[in-house]
Amino acid sequence: MCGIVGYIGRREAAPLIVEGLKKLEYRGYDSFGVATIGGMGLEFDKHKGRISENDQSAIQLKGKIGIGHTRWATHGIPNDANAHPHLDCTGTIAVVHNGIIENYAELKRQLTARGHTFRSDTDTEVVVHLIEEEYAKKKDLLFAVQTIVPKLEGSYALLVISNNEERMIVARNASPLVIGIGDGETFAASDMTPILEHTERAMFLEDGDIATISWSEVAIYNQGILVTRPLELIDWSLEDVKKGGFAHFMLKEIYEQPQAFYNTIRAVTSETLPDFVHNPTSVTVVACGSSYHTGLIFKYLLEESCRVPVRLEFASEFKYYPPPIEGLVIGITQSGETADTLTALKQAKARNCKTLAVTNILGSSVSRLADATIFMRAGPEISVAATKSFIAQLAVLMQIVNNISGRKCSAMLLHAHQAIEEILLIDLTAAVSVCTGAKDIFYVGRGPFYPVALEGALKMKEISYIHAEGYAAGELKHGPFALLSPETPVIALCTPGDTYAVMISNIKEMKARGAPVIAVGNEGDSELPEIADIFIPIPGTTPFVQVLTSLVVLQLLAYYTAVALGRDVDKPRNLAKSVTVE
Ligand code: F6R
Repeated sequence: MCGIVGYIGRREAAPLIVEGLKKLEYRGYDSFGVATIGGMGLEFDKHKGRISENDQSAIQLKGKIGIGHTRWATHGIPNDANAHPHLDCTGTIAVVHNGIIENYAELKRQLTARGHTFRSDTDTEVVVHLIEEEYAKKKDLLFAVQTIVPKLEGSYALLVISNNEERMIVARNASPLVIGIGDGETFAASDMTPILEHTERAMFLEDGDIATISWSEVAIYNQGILVTRPLELIDWSLEDVKKGGFAHFMLKEIYEQPQAFYNTIRAVTSETLPDFVHNPTSVTVVACGSSYHTGLIFKYLLEESCRVPVRLEFASEFKYYPPPIEGLVIGITQSGETADTLTALKQAKARNCKTLAVTNILGSSVSRLADATIFMRAGPEISVAATKSFIAQLAVLMQIVNNISGRKCSAMLLHAHQAIEEILLIDLTAAVSVCTGAKDIFYVGRGPFYPVALEGALKMKEISYIHAEGYAAGELKHGPFALLSPETPVIALCTPGDTYAVMISNIKEMKARGAPVIAVGNEGDSELPEIADIFIPIPGTTPFVQVLTSLVVLQLLAYYTAVALGRDVDKPRNLAKSVTVE
C-alpha cells in the first residue's frame, strides 16, 4: 500500500529517491519522507502531503545512501510524525516500511517498558526500536535486522540505514521488494517503476530474504544462509511510466488497451498454458474488485462456451467462509500482491487444488505462490483505477476459454484489438453531461454484460465520486426501481443476442419511471436510438468483442465525467493501487 525506494551509489541519493517516490505515488500519497547518510550523519525530512507537490526540502538532504517512502495510512493519521522514515531513540538508524506489523501493539508495550520513546502512532516504529536494541549489542546492522525479523508478525518490505554503516539492509515478507542493479549503483524499491529509468536488471526478493547492499555487492540471506536470486531483464520501457502527452495516466492507459490486449492474446497460446488448464472439469476463481469482475465475465463465457462450471468467490470472503472446492483454482490479481487473493490461493493449495495465477507483475508474490502463472502483457499501470490491466486480464481469460473450447475463437481474438481501437475516439459529450449532473447512476446488463455494468459503476464511483451501482438488468425492478427518477440516469448495455428483447422491455420500464436512459448497443441498431435518451453505438459482432468495446465506453465515460468534475483522476481519494492489507 505504500511505496519505498532506496539508493546506494555514485550519485546524490535524495534527488533520485524523490523522483522514484513520485513514480510510486500510485501506491499511496498521504505523506512522504526521505533519509540519507551524509557528511553530517543521518539526515531526514518528512511531511504530510504528496511528494509530487512538495519535494524541495527533501532534495536538500546530502549523501549517497538513502531511503524514502510514500504512505497510504493504515496505523495513525496522515501527518508529519506518522510519515516514514522512522528513527530509533538515538537518531542514528532509520527505517521505511511497506506492509503491516500485526503484533506491533504488544511489541510497542514491551519496548516502552524497556524505556524506548515512540514519536508516532505507526506500527512501523517498533521495527526501528527493535533494531536499535540489537545494534547496540554488536554494532552490526545485518545482524540486528536478522535478529529482529523473526519477532515480526505480518507483512513487510523494509529498508534500513544507519549512520555508522556504509550499506543498506533490506528485508521482505509478503510485501514486494525488488533490487535494481545499475552501473556503480543499486536501488531497492517496491516495484520497477522508480528503477526502470536507471537499469533494466533486477532481482526479486522472496519471503524471508534479508539482503545487505553495499557499494560493491548485494548479498542475500534466507534463514541466515547465503542464497542467490536470478538476475532478470525487465523489458518494460521507460515511456510506459511517463504520461507521454496525455492529461492523465488513466487516459493514456485506456489508449494503450488495444496494444495490451493484442500483446496478451499473442503471448497466451495453447503451448504456453499450463497442462492443468487445458481440460478442467470445474474451475474456482478468487479475486477482488475489478479483478473479480473479470472473473465474472470469465464465468459467463466459459460456462456458455464450454459448459464447464465456474465458481467465483470474493477472495476476502473465501478466507473466513471457505467453500468446498476441488480442481483448478485461478487467482486473478493485476498487482500480484492483494493480500486477500494471496490468502485464498494459499488455502486452495493447502486443500490440494491446482492453482493458477493471472497477474501483470513479474516476480510478484502471487507468481511465487501459485503452481503456475500467466503474465498479462499490460505493462506498468500507474493510474489507481484499473483499465488496461483489466483488458489484459480479459485477454488471458478469453484465451483460456478459447483453448478449452477447441480454439474456435482464435481469429476473432487476434483482431479484437481493432474494435477496441475504433471505440477510443467516440464522442461521449452528451452522456457525460447527463452523468456530471447525477447524484446516483445505475448500470445494467445481462449475461457477461452484467459484470461489465458492475465494472462501469466501479470506475464511475472510484474516480468521479458519484454513487453508481451495477445490477443484473432484471433485478432493478425488485427494489431499486423505487429510486428511479429524472435525477437517476440508467446506463443500459443492450447488445444483440438472446437477451436483446428483454433488455428493450427493461429499458422501457425504466423510461416509464422517469429515468433518463443511456443505451450502449450495436452500431446500426435502429430501435435503441428511438427509445433511449442517448444512444452510444459500439462496434464488434460477437459478445466477446462487445464486452471489450462496451467496457471501454464505460471507462471513458467515467474518465470524462471525473475530469469534468475536476477530480484527481489518477489518485482518487482514499484509494491505493495495491491492497496489501486484509
Ligand atoms: C479498481 C481496482 C481495484 C482492484 C482490486 C484488486 O479500479 O483497481 O478494485 O481491482 O483492488 O486488485 P488486484 O487486481 O491487484 O488484486
